[in-house]
Order: sequence, then C-alpha cells, then structure tokens
Amino acid sequence: MESSRKMLVVLTTMVVTVHVVNASLVYVGGGKETWRPDVNFSEWSSRQNIYVGDWLYFGFDKKLYNVLEVNKTGYEGCNDMGFIKNITKGGRDVFQVIEAKKYYFINGGGYCLGGMKVAINVENLQPSPSPSLLTGVKQNKNGSPSKFGGHVVTVMAVLTGVLLAWAIL
Ligand SMILES: *[C@@H]1O[C@H](CO)[C@@H](O)[C@H](O)[C@H]1NC(C)=O
Ligand SMILES: *[C@@H]1O[C@H](CO)[C@@H](O)[C@H](O)[C@H]1NC(C)=O
Ligand SMILES: *[C@@H]1O[C@H](CO)[C@@H](O)[C@H](O)[C@H]1NC(C)=O
Repeated sequence: MESSRKMLVVLTTMVVTVHVVNASLVYVGGGKETWRPDVNFSEWSSRQNIYVGDWLYFGFDKKLYNVLEVNKTGYEGCNDMGFIKNITKGGRDVFQVIEAKKYYFINGGGYCLGGMKVAINVENLQPSPSPSLLTGVKQNKNGSPSKFGGHVVTVMAVLTGVLLAWAIL
C-alpha cells in the first residue's frame, strides 16, 4: 500500500517534469520580431523540428500585422474567412502546438499574398536521442538560437526519476 502510493508520487512527478521541461519555445521566423513580410517562412520551417507541447512565438508590430491560425485551404488561398484561431494579442504572442499534425498560420489581408504565412509540421517526440537533440540549441542563419531544446534535460529527468523509484520502493 505504502509502496504503491510512493510509486504513484514518483510517476506523477516524472510525468509533470517531462511535460514542463520538454516544451521548447520556437521563434517563428528565427528571431524575436520575425513575423514580417521579408522572411522566407517556407525556408525557415523546412529547417525546424517542432514537437507536440512546444510553444510558437510570433513577434511582430501589432499595428501592422496579425496572426491567424487557418486550415490548409485558408493557407493556400490566403483566405482568413472562417479562421480557426486569432493568435493576435500584443505582438509577442505564443501558441502551443498540442497535436502531431501540420499547423497553418497566415497574416490576414494582403501581407499573406506577399508570403507572410507559415506551415508548421509538428511531430511526436521520438524516444531515441539524435545528434540534434543532444546539442539542444539550434542556430538560425544569423547565429542566434531559434529554439531552446529541453530534450536532454528531459532524458536526465526521466533517468533520475527511475533511479529515485529504485531507491524508494
Ligand atoms: C524561399 O526559400 C525556398 C527554399 O530555399 C525557395 O525555393 C523560395 O524561392 C524562397 N522564396 C522566396 C519568396 O524567396
Ligand atoms: C477550411 O475552412 C473553410 C472555412 O471555414 C472551409 O470552408 C473549408 O472547407 C475548410 N477546408 C478544410 C480542408 O478543412
Ligand atoms: C484578431 O485580434 C486582434 C486583436 O484583438 C484584432 O485587432 C483583429 O481585428 C482580430 N482579427 C480578426 C480577423 O478577427
């Protein structure tokens, strides 16, 4: 009885830890204010590995731009009628991706036709670490980190949890 309660505490702690540590903040476009017309978003997104639970950060001038989540049709045709979600708040806006699927975001109005739209492929986190997971931080072409990976920390947290469970139970 006592042992199974401890087990429950350990497991709960592990699950919570994994969820908290695992999320990465991804600057859409590569920087803190790169939701802009002059960014090549298809080039940017092709270089990203974005996982379920990560947060997307859209940094922009809210007097000029906005961010709407749309479906594939809306993305392809730059049509914001019937958008799914308006992400726009203050111009430093975040959005958590919670499903392994393709997400679509556009700037409503003319800027979308000029290329201000992005399709983001979200994957389930693979269990086995790859070299890019081990480095943790990815560089964009300006050399500043565009994504802060917590994946190594996650693996450590899980291992620590397992060791703890061995010791306690
Ligand atoms: C964006 O980058 C992609 C891939 O590098 C390229 O094919 C495309 O022409 C670029 N688009 C613009 C508008 O520069
Ligand atoms: C996308 O949303 C529009 C507007 O709500 C709708 O008419 C269209 O059928 C949707 N397309 C897909 C592929 O779900
Ligand atoms: C989205 O929200 C912003 C800020 O509240 C607002 O100014 C804008 O009109 C909204 N866009 C649409 C298409 O509803």
